[in-house]
Amino acid sequence: MLLFLVAFVIGGTGALLAEDYEGLGEEFNDVKDVLKKMKGPIPDPFQNIYPSWTPTPVDIRDSGPPLILSDLEPGVARSAAKVTGPLGEVEGYSGFVTVEPKYNSSLYFWYFPSKKGAENSPLILWLQGGPGASSLFGMFTEIGPYEVVGEKLQKRKISWHEDYSLLFIDSPVGTGFSFTDDEDGYRTNQKDVAKDLHTALQQFFRIFQELRSRPFFITGESYAGKHIPSLALEIHLRNQEMKNEINLKGFAIGNPFINPPENLQFSQFCYPLGLCDTPTRRTMLRMEKATEYLLKQENFVQAHGLMSMNLHLLMTNSNFTNIYNILHPHENTLSADFVEYVQSAEARTSLHVGDAEYSGILPVYRRLIPDFMKSGLEFLNPLLGQYPILLYSGHMDIIVWYGFTRQVVESLSGPCPHRSWMVDGKFAGYRHKCGHLEFALVHAAGHMVPTDRPEAAKDLIDDFISRALNQ
Ligand SMILES: *[C@@H]1O[C@H](CO)[C@@H](O)[C@H](O)[C@H]1NC(C)=O
Ligand SMILES: *[C@@H]1O[C@H](CO)[C@@H](O)[C@H](O)[C@H]1NC(C)=O
Repeated sequence: MLLFLVAFVIGGTGALLAEDYEGLGEEFNDVKDVLKKMKGPIPDPFQNIYPSWTPTPVDIRDSGPPLILSDLEPGVARSAAKVTGPLGEVEGYSGFVTVEPKYNSSLYFWYFPSKKGAENSPLILWLQGGPGASSLFGMFTEIGPYEVVGEKLQKRKISWHEDYSLLFIDSPVGTGFSFTDDEDGYRTNQKDVAKDLHTALQQFFRIFQELRSRPFFITGESYAGKHIPSLALEIHLRNQEMKNEINLKGFAIGNPFINPPENLQFSQFCYPLGLCDTPTRRTMLRMEKATEYLLKQENFVQAHGLMSMNLHLLMTNSNFTNIYNILHPHENTLSADFVEYVQSAEARTSLHVGDAEYSGILPVYRRLIPDFMKSGLEFLNPLLGQYPILLYSGHMDIIVWYGFTRQVVESLSGPCPHRSWMVDGKFAGYRHKCGHLEFALVHAAGHMVPTDRPEAAKDLIDDFISRALNQ
């Protein structure tokens, strides 16, 4: 998921106030007037949307330390990581690898060998967005073998682990169970985020050597629109200079946040969809112009603040509290049931997370605000034509509207036609072949496509992977 928060919820970076925008100049006096009417910090419409939580305190005397695998022999590491208890019903391995020893920065992973056998199956890495959202969100609510409903742990009907080995990593450092012992361990730019992931993958393949030769795909959603291309590029470049290659075969990203100039134009769709009235749309257009201006000035923190403000206007005018699916204006479609479960003593023991805190998105999010509005195209562009790439969008999403992604795709490929697409006799959406990119629109899905249309998402990924393997 993708969240916009402004600085005032975020200790340390300082609140953004109307005064902070005085520098916008006279041509934006109308925008400044709108901000002045806010009286006080620019509002944060999103802090209550994604399940944001305060980690449950744990005592090391009850839980012990987290299991760090970096210095263990591969065989020893593998058996130590084996997941036990109810969460071990589906074979899995869970633990930490240290990516920057100086700060004890360690990334948490959970790996499920494919039901068809790891040696016969591609390996898929899933990365959540945020930035700072735990990939266990995707595991429990989108594609993994388990889900938690109420307090009950159960198996998901359609899980990608039926056909693929799945690896979930909490990244960047400080996300979910991942941790660092030093303020300087937190990452503040996308390149460092990618480097840490690359280091973690190398350690992972050292332990699970049989996976190194398997076809490797990266998937995820939302802010992973930046995480995934940056990791893919890091792998691509490092593969050319080292022995321990990673067998990257392609990547797929759902409702990707890639290039902020396209991604900030909420006024484009709020009017035709009837979510905003004419005066609000006019104000939003002006906010967007001002945001673009700030981006050109490379004033990224202020641009992020205005973008949040623009969304606040949309949400206030539409009276929508949920911006992940237009069909559910007030319902929180994000299930947080798993958040409590993974912090229970039972889950901690099974997953070997010890006393590691399970962080909500804020610690990582706030440190990446200065990087938030920077484009991910610098990572994506060099990969075009090098790997199969699929972008897909839930049709009903608001926060990363499908039209934004189509615009990104067509700006790279030129106009491209679509064809409609069926799954099990049911309309699933449209598929586009756009130069070096594939784009799919998934009908009746919101921001979390595999949650809303599991069979369509699985069909998409199966088709993408099988074609990538036959190339
Ligand atoms: C790293 O952090 C973990 C978890 O807090 C701790 O158990 C471990 O001793 C630390 N390692 C070092 C080298 O400080
Ligand atoms: C906005 O929606 C909420 C439901 O979430 C409702 O209680 C409230 O009355 C609505 N506000 C207005 C101004 O209609």
